[in-house]
Amino acid sequence: LHGSMSIVDNELTIGKIKCSELKKKYNTPLYIFDEELVRNNCREYMKHFKVEEKGNRVAYAAKAFFPVYMCKLIDEEGLYLDVVSEGELYTAKVAQFPMEKILFHGNNKTLEEIKMGVELGVGRFVVDNYYELELLNQVCEQKKKKQDIYFRVTPGIEAHTHEYIQTGQVDSKFGFTLSNGEVHKAVENLKKYENLNLVGIHAHIGSQIFDIKPYLDEVEIMLGLINEMKKNYDIEIQELDLGGGFGVYYSEGDNPKPIKEFCENIVKKADEVCRVLDIKLPVLIIEPGRSIVANAGSTIYTVGSIKDIKDVRTYVSVDGGMTDNIRPSLYEARYECILTNKAKNPKNQKVTIAGKCCESGDILLKDVKMSEVESGDILLVSSTGAYGYSMASNYNKILKPPVVSVLNGESKIICKRQTYENLIELELM
Ligand code: LLP
Repeated sequence: LHGSMSIVDNELTIGKIKCSELKKKYNTPLYIFDEELVRNNCREYMKHFKVEEKGNRVAYAAKAFFPVYMCKLIDEEGLYLDVVSEGELYTAKVAQFPMEKILFHGNNKTLEEIKMGVELGVGRFVVDNYYELELLNQVCEQKKKKQDIYFRVTPGIEAHTHEYIQTGQVDSKFGFTLSNGEVHKAVENLKKYENLNLVGIHAHIGSQIFDIKPYLDEVEIMLGLINEMKKNYDIEIQELDLGGGFGVYYSEGDNPKPIKEFCENIVKKADEVCRVLDIKLPVLIIEPGRSIVANAGSTIYTVGSIKDIKDVRTYVSVDGGMTDNIRPSLYEARYECILTNKAKNPKNQKVTIAGKCCESGDILLKDVKMSEVESGDILLVSSTGAYGYSMASNYNKILKPPVVSVLNGESKIICKRQTYENLIELELM
């Protein structure tokens, strides 16, 4: 049970509300957002990454889950923000997020995106490559602005995670490679770009990482680079952004470290390395996405058809699927589920939970233990808060479910259910 979940009268509640009540009020499929847990996670990060004490920064990675409501919450909690597109930037603007607290990422920012970022005054562009350096400098020249930037560095760290979400290794589409001198070359060329001001360096080593070790290696490598820049080029790098990727619990076998441990170890390591190298400690930045929202999100579905193939498998189908959660089909991600109306019943059978898409691969959970199931039961899949809603699609023209925030017995819609009108609004008659 995550966050504010508890079991009352054999029924699962979140934010003190029974799932059956949520179903009655909003229907299924439905994303539920445990606001208390999200806020607690933000506060844990802010506290243990020493934001007040040392001036470090925590930037929420918008890509994980980013409705306007979430953006406002992030601002209220005092975090910075990492965006990667015009769309995320636009959302931040609508939510009136302070532009100077935005980091703009992306390996192929378009000219329009660059213009928009410069015009709105985003705090830092995380420059990924030479092409972007040229474009950004030109835009800034035209607009007579000086832009603070970071360089995105590919540090050559291979963290153990799914290959699609690994990013720190040498063979990556992201960033200036460290090992072949690309970073140094970019620094040497900096003088050419009169409208850009290099204030920091950034790396992101991957996602859903449980080990602290790769992060400590990253700290060492990146501080080493800062030291070299000072010695060789007399450039003072004041900000070090270590990216996100801290792992969360989805299902048995996942062993994430508490936020506190991650943060404290990173902060401590940076202190030590700076002492050894005898350099000034830069402001540290981290960019968690998943670990702020994943466990705070759940999806409830209604069980429909049940197909029992004797001695082979029992398929339990629900009224959503890969359209609201692509992660099982895309990454073979594993989740846990529970029948919310039979929360304490013994889990005495093995079933496979299938979605409703016209595709055999639309399986949400394979071979999971479950209590006696009947059509009409409410099935909750836990930890769907990150990269669920944000990666949802309209495949088969299935409508995107709404998101409802729950807190202390109150619920409210933060994203409405899509309508058929929404579905065809871009289509010409
Ligand atoms: N910073 C940068 C530069 C990133 O590229 C990412 C994630 C993050 C921060 C946040 O990482 P997080 O703390 O959320 O792990 N769709 C995939 C995850 C892709 C992550 C891409 N970058 C999934 O569903 O697992």
